[in-house]
Amino acid sequence: MAVADKIRASMEKSSWIRKMFEEGIARKAKFGAENVFDFSLGNPNLEPPVKFKKTLIEIANDPSPALHSYMPNAGLLVTRKAVADYLTETNRRNFGPEDVVMTVGAGGALNVVLKTLLNPGDEVIIPSPYFVEYNFYLDNHQGVPRIVKTKPDFSLDLPALEEAITDKCKAVLIDSPNNPTGKVYGKEELRNLGELLSAYSRKLGRPIYLISDEPYRKIVYDGISVPSVFDVYTESFVVTSFSKDLSLPGERIGYAAVNPDMSDKGLVMGGMILCNRILGYVNAPAIMQRAVVRLLRDSVDVSLYQRKRDMLCSGLSQCGYEFEKPGGAFYLFPRTPIADDVAFVHDLQEENILVVPGSGFAGPGHMRIAYCVDDRTIEKAMPGFERVMRKYKK
Ligand SMILES: Cc1ncc(COP(=O)(O)O)c(C=O)c1O
Repeated sequence: MAVADKIRASMEKSSWIRKMFEEGIARKAKFGAENVFDFSLGNPNLEPPVKFKKTLIEIANDPSPALHSYMPNAGLLVTRKAVADYLTETNRRNFGPEDVVMTVGAGGALNVVLKTLLNPGDEVIIPSPYFVEYNFYLDNHQGVPRIVKTKPDFSLDLPALEEAITDKCKAVLIDSPNNPTGKVYGKEELRNLGELLSAYSRKLGRPIYLISDEPYRKIVYDGISVPSVFDVYTESFVVTSFSKDLSLPGERIGYAAVNPDMSDKGLVMGGMILCNRILGYVNAPAIMQRAVVRLLRDSVDVSLYQRKRDMLCSGLSQCGYEFEKPGGAFYLFPRTPIADDVAFVHDLQEENILVVPGSGFAGPGHMRIAYCVDDRTIEKAMPGFERVMRKYKK
């Protein structure tokens, strides 16, 4: 066999998002792109801020030598210093460049952290529903996922989390604002999680790490903000990217930061820098590292996403859909009126509406609607959403 058994099995399982993507291509060819309402992908539809393009042009015209050379594997010092300053400003900790590794997106950052931490068979607790790429990332480094359901409002179920902690537990991986639910965990919730992990770290005589995946941190609504994990737990990492808040997913730029007070910080950072290199990334893209220095405090216009969320929420609730209103990210995760979310998603497909079954995120009985789309797509899809709901709710 040309392809390894494990990879072949993963290819056959092929994610739901990918299936919807392919379905979308086929339907757009058949019915015309304007008649297909594609809510399947978390690909931001807003253009990057104008300042990004200006910055790129300035960087391209910079006559300094060696702009495109190899660099320290952790990333450019000037970038890591700027990120550290930004983190110092936004958390109650003093960060230095030694606390930051520039990475190839948040996905790269997660792989770097997991490769650094995991021995074969180590467990990582993940609250569900969750971003299913985590399974592949864990498998890359021989980690084992322990999936723990969140509460019906998608907040953390701490007693269930506690029950999942075994002597193999190496880390808890959270994502807030969450993909696929849009949930933003509260300060109290995170503080309680930090206390739980401290208690079990003491019991085990070694840290259980908290990894917080935060590419949607700046995409929050109604004036809420995302509490800092660094402020509530010492043995913590933040992994993030500029993919969503600057609409740069194709540019593959992000970072991993460690809590400046983490025990064994020097060792952990040394491991992360080595892993960034040996995973084959070597370093994050050079031009992008120079660009984000000037854009750390910028983002796309988040009020546009808030408007889309509001349009979608009010339209769907009028049609009888039930959901938790998301506090951030650009996903809505409504309950399906029948338990079989895959069947319901197929019904929506017949209306040329493409969404992803909740089962694809370990959240059966739901579906994920990615509303990073034109307002027109939301408006035009609404009659189809209504017709399908009417079939089930008389
Ligand atoms: C929760 C979550 N984490 C990580 C990623 C990966 O982000 P990046 O494209 O920056 O690697 C995504 C992308 O959709 C995501 O939704």
